Amino acid sequence: MDEKALVKKTIFSGIQPSGDLTLGSYLGAIKNWVELCDGYNCYYCIVDMHAITVRQNPAELRRRTIAQLAQYIACGLDPQKNTIFVQSHVPAHAELAWVLNCYTMFGELSRMTQFKDKSAKNSDNINAGLFTYPALMAADILLYQTDLVPVGEDQKQHVEICRDIATRFNGIYGDVFKMPEPYIPKVGARIMSLTSPESKMSKSDKDPGGCIYIMQQPDEIMRCFKRAVTDSDTCVHCDPKSKPGVSNLMQVYSVATGENFEDIEKEFCGKGYGEFKTKVGEAVVELLRPIREEAERLIADKSYLEGIYKQGAEKAAYTANKTLRKVYKKVGFIER
Ligand code: TRP
Repeated sequence: MDEKALVKKTIFSGIQPSGDLTLGSYLGAIKNWVELCDGYNCYYCIVDMHAITVRQNPAELRRRTIAQLAQYIACGLDPQKNTIFVQSHVPAHAELAWVLNCYTMFGELSRMTQFKDKSAKNSDNINAGLFTYPALMAADILLYQTDLVPVGEDQKQHVEICRDIATRFNGIYGDVFKMPEPYIPKVGARIMSLTSPESKMSKSDKDPGGCIYIMQQPDEIMRCFKRAVTDSDTCVHCDPKSKPGVSNLMQVYSVATGENFEDIEKEFCGKGYGEFKTKVGEAVVELLRPIREEAERLIADKSYLEGIYKQGAEKAAYTANKTLRKVYKKVGFIER
């Protein structure tokens, strides 16, 4: 029998605790992660070290890190089947990032679109961490000999540079790192802002009405959906080019209820946008209600969450340290 076929592939992904988790992060990422746990060996990281490349309020960062862990679990990520941990709890990330910094070129980093965007947005704080962010992300991925990295379109360039760094390192020292690939899920829902449906729903959205949060209260969610941008038509029909607002609402409704687009068009034929928006809002309220309630319960249980992130860090560190030891040896560090 082919022995390799028995070995599960490894998946690594992470989300920064730089804002509260959104409906977009649930439907676009976490919901897919939940389905991967049986077929793959999965690591899901709360990347707090990436978050401080932009100024954070320390108390808020702590609160969001814990809340993010609780929401991962409440969304269905089983901490016994997946390795869920906080990046700063596994020192190997910082250690490998330093080594990889020395194998990453200034020119490569200068071409990163996220660096250009973020430095334009934070012109008073263009720090070295923001610049070398991709080397830390490469360390995250390479430490676990990752096969697949589920990411959105906006992060593909970072997986690309990770591959370039790994290729360069392997080229000098032999096969130290497994070559990772971006993994764009088949049914990846790309949820757009409710107020500017041309751009992705984002926790950094300036307009608070554009973004729905997993932990948001039902009345606030309803208010956002009632104010959602549509168009001057009256027909519930999917066409992302000419009807981005309505198409986005259909997408949300479809993943929330499981209905396909045809059924949705039929259901709302001749009914007007008001009723449609209310229905979408209600579906989202019901989708998020059990998740929010479970997350609230978990957040109140500090010692449980502490147990989970400690166990996660221990499991992660075991694998990460194996790779780090290899790397240290290869570059010529004497054993500690
Ligand atoms: N850079 C990613 C983002 O902002 C987060 C991230 C950090 C990540 N390390 C990672 C994603 C490793 C996938 C794999 O969305």
